Amino acid sequence: MAREFTRVGVVGLGTMGAGIVEVFARNGLDVTAVEISEAAVERGRVTLTGSTDRAVAKGKLAEADRDALLARVDFRVGLDALHDVDLVIEAVPEHLDLKQRIFAEMDRVCKPEAILATNTSSLSVTEISVATTRPNQVIGIHFFNPAPVMKLVEVVRTVVTSADVVADVEALCERLGKVDVTISDRAGFIANALLFGYLNHAVGMFEARYATREDIDAAMKLGCGLPMGPLALMDLIGLDTAYEILDTMYRRGGRDRRHAPAPLLKQMVTAGLLGRKSGRGFYTYERPGSPKVVPDEYTPPAGDAALADGARGIAKVGVVGSGTMATGIIEVFAKAGYEVISVTRGAEKSAKVCEAVKTSLNKGVVRGKLSETDRDAALGRITWSATLDHLADVDLVVEAVIEELSVKKALFASLDEICKPGVVLATTTSSLPVIDVAMATQRPADVIGLHFFNPAPIMPLVEIVQTIRTSAETSATARAVCAKLGKTGVVCGDRSGFIVNALLFPYLNDAVKMLEASYSTADDIDYAMKLGCGYPMGPFELLDVVGLDVSLAIQRELYLELREPGFAPAPLLEHLVTAGYLGRKTGRGFRDHTRR
Ligand SMILES: NC(=O)c1ccc[n+]([C@@H]2O[C@H](COP(=O)([O-])OP(=O)(O)OC[C@H]3O[C@@H](n4cnc5c(N)ncnc54)[C@H](O)[C@@H]3O)[C@@H](O)[C@H]2O)c1
Repeated sequence: MAREFTRVGVVGLGTMGAGIVEVFARNGLDVTAVEISEAAVERGRVTLTGSTDRAVAKGKLAEADRDALLARVDFRVGLDALHDVDLVIEAVPEHLDLKQRIFAEMDRVCKPEAILATNTSSLSVTEISVATTRPNQVIGIHFFNPAPVMKLVEVVRTVVTSADVVADVEALCERLGKVDVTISDRAGFIANALLFGYLNHAVGMFEARYATREDIDAAMKLGCGLPMGPLALMDLIGLDTAYEILDTMYRRGGRDRRHAPAPLLKQMVTAGLLGRKSGRGFYTYERPGSPKVVPDEYTPPAGDAALADGARGIAKVGVVGSGTMATGIIEVFAKAGYEVISVTRGAEKSAKVCEAVKTSLNKGVVRGKLSETDRDAALGRITWSATLDHLADVDLVVEAVIEELSVKKALFASLDEICKPGVVLATTTSSLPVIDVAMATQRPADVIGLHFFNPAPIMPLVEIVQTIRTSAETSATARAVCAKLGKTGVVCGDRSGFIVNALLFPYLNDAVKMLEASYSTADDIDYAMKLGCGYPMGPFELLDVVGLDVSLAIQRELYLELREPGFAPAPLLEHLVTAGYLGRKTGRGFRDHTRR
């Protein structure tokens, strides 16, 4: 017979525990909420009332329901209070010895039939379970942060967890309105195993001054549609917790260097910069526990004036190419008021691009996003040409031709001969070194990368790629242009994958490796990332959209340039590409798209 859960216990009322108490109490369960001291209990109580008050203020919770919710919670100091609970979940700091001690104690205090659960993110549930006399009743219930919001729960069964315990916990998750994925006991389970390599890589980028914190975070939010950037997420998770998770994953997960915590993390933790909970981490917050970021000494100056500082004036822009990106970029510049010269390899191609730009602008009119007058004005600003000579007097050239280094180099050499001095020459390459293109000219200081995302008229992000020869003036000009286009320009160095692809593709590759290792299914992995981390698409959905061949090519580039063993493309990805399963475009990738 299935267990009845009437009263549950939560041990540790920090970032996660307080949220877990709320989830239980909201769903009608009585909760014994345990902390180590009166002061810690008080902190937990303040977190809970703060969160429920915000829910009331937002109209998501009735006042009476909040009062009933709070009345269900019994705050206590010490584990003895857990004698009558049916299930207890532990959410204390991520240290094995601490958790084992607490489990031994809970085993002594709790009813014999009670289930003992841990919210650990990375420690072995099995190792925790052997501290008790009932390892078959020990299970992992891994909530996501913030627990009241995130839908996912990872239920972790060890080799000795009883089937009835797993079934009862799965039913409990359903009662809590959560979606559960049940998995075995492996470091990082699904979501953290995929998330933390990425987070640590982002910290490494910041530490190496590859890009600013604002730009790294903006790149992942705007380029991938993630709910938060990686550094802001680190602050939410807590840097001490993140450090422990990475350290454990490194030791348990095959000593993958990507999980060796970035040195900066240790320094920040030692300095007491723990993220939101201490009021300062990568960002500074209004006060400890507050989600509100306040300016600090690293905050970049705001406003167009700051952006335009040192920038050259740009009025006339040449766009070279006739593909999807060139077409989108022509539209973006024309709409923003620039005079545009489109150069293709022939009148036929120009006619096609012109047609595509018109169709796209007309769509804007139909959707009410653009007036007819503005459409006509934008079209009126574009001239169509099939010869580079017409670029002699433009102020900026944006190259968007085929992704082949020899072609781009030849083009830049020609532009060098044709264009006037002072022109900014930009390439939209997504994978080639910008410096190679720059050195094909006699003016590498004027060359920069402008990496637009597809579809250019919609995606708000542009990566501005500076080489070691790019001048400050060229960079300032690029930033000012992006601002005028209404895009967010993020500045980064000339390294494979820039910011977005370098952080995104290894994560996708890791998901393929996880599938290949039969740890979980494509569906569950997709669920985990969408419901646990708020990603707009799961990794396999995204791989099928991007194309497996494109993804493999990017991953190979990253691997070749950075020589990071963990970046080696997953063999399964290579095989699927060889088999012609390239994703949606061929009807089959990780999923079969021909069947509905
Ligand atoms: N932070 C996250 O995003 C996140 C997400 C999922 C899971 N987790 C996991 O949840 C667990 C808790 O992490 P957190 O971020 O909430 O940590 P935290 O540091 O915010 O909170 C831990 C709490 O445990 C209390 N505590 C310590 N020793 C105790 C004891 N002996 N008895 C009772 N309470 C005690 C502390 O006073 C503190 O309030 C960890 O295992 C972590 O890996 C964290």
